[in-house]
Amino acid sequence: MSRPIRLAINGYGRIGRCFLRALHESPLKNKFQIVAINEPADLESMVYLTHFDSTHGVFSGQVGQGPDCLIIDGQEIHVSHAQTPEGVDWARHEIDLLVECSGRYGLRDELTRFVDAGCPRLLLSHPGHSAQDVDFTMIYGVNHEKLKGDERIVSNASCTTNAIVPVLDQLHRAFGVEQVYLTTLHSVMNDQPLIDGYHHSDLRRNRSAMQSIVPVATGLAQGVVRFLPQLAGKVQAKAIRVPTLNVSAIDLVANLERNADVHAINSLLKAAAAKQPGLLAYSDAPHASVDFNHDPHSAVIDGSQTRVNGPRFANVFVWFDNEWAFACRLLDALQAWSVRCPAMGQTPKHTLESV
Ligand SMILES: NC(=O)c1ccc[n+]([C@@H]2O[C@H](COP(=O)([O-])OP(=O)(O)OC[C@H]3O[C@@H](n4cnc5c(N)ncnc54)[C@H](OP(=O)(O)O)[C@@H]3O)[C@@H](O)[C@H]2O)c1
Repeated sequence: MSRPIRLAINGYGRIGRCFLRALHESPLKNKFQIVAINEPADLESMVYLTHFDSTHGVFSGQVGQGPDCLIIDGQEIHVSHAQTPEGVDWARHEIDLLVECSGRYGLRDELTRFVDAGCPRLLLSHPGHSAQDVDFTMIYGVNHEKLKGDERIVSNASCTTNAIVPVLDQLHRAFGVEQVYLTTLHSVMNDQPLIDGYHHSDLRRNRSAMQSIVPVATGLAQGVVRFLPQLAGKVQAKAIRVPTLNVSAIDLVANLERNADVHAINSLLKAAAAKQPGLLAYSDAPHASVDFNHDPHSAVIDGSQTRVNGPRFANVFVWFDNEWAFACRLLDALQAWSVRCPAMGQTPKHTLESV
């Protein structure tokens, strides 16, 4: 017998909460139901940050609290506070899939602990440690049709890979990319302290997030090559955190194999965006980053910033809401997975009644 697909969230931070909101704002909320959340923070703070969000505004539904549960529009979501996969009785909740949003588990051995603890499937809000640590890495709109449905661990890649791979893929097909440099200008994240403090193994992440432009380590080049292996050895990337709350950009600089000019590049990317509405967009209006807060597109190509220097040296600029667009892609990934996996949502009713 079919029923709503039962989901749990592990790690209820920026992405975990955005995912819950994105589902709440989507027609898919009738198909997927969040039944459990595991997060170290106390319940009162979780309820509070669900209700009020400095970046995305006040929650559009009713938010309440019960014993060990967050209540959204009258629907109870069980809350636990474990620090390990085994610390939660996942099987009790009969979940079909766990959305792993803590970012704390990247190796296959670590991720498999969730499966052993009662989570039949995992969708990661991060790339995992490597391609070998997951069964499939998805960029919705690029390769989601290759998902088979019987995977256990699927990664939704990163917000930056979701933004740049569709654009780079287009450029490579049309003009051939000889070498490419990607510079991410990323808003601050919770792995940076507000003022200087001991926080991370990356030294610069110990520096005040709101005081400086902070270069940080990035795995973007490897992330891109996971999707575009034809560019192996040709991609370099740099990430710079900037003191804004949300919305990021990528500045792409490439040597091309064939001649291109601004018009040809913009026409190509504008046409690509028209073919993928909701995923890619094109604009040549005079934007600043805040224009894209709560924007669902994986990337918005800013045509006003396209440059060439000679016929084969090109520069392209894209904007993306690193939180919201990525949460929307998690939903797209879930939908793509569920239609290929009939076992999701098929738990017998008597099993549910005993939960
Ligand atoms: N923010 C973005 O723009 C963005 C975009 C795409 C992908 N991602 C990826 O998504 C992941 C989460 O990022 P985020 O920005 O949402 O981080 P975040 O705001 O720090 O949220 C992570 C949450 O997980 C909790 N947590 C820590 N250890 C846990 C454990 N063992 N079990 C369960 N929960 C645990 C954290 O609690 P404590 O604070 O107490 O540690 C925190 O509340 C990262 O891998 C990140 O790279 C982030």
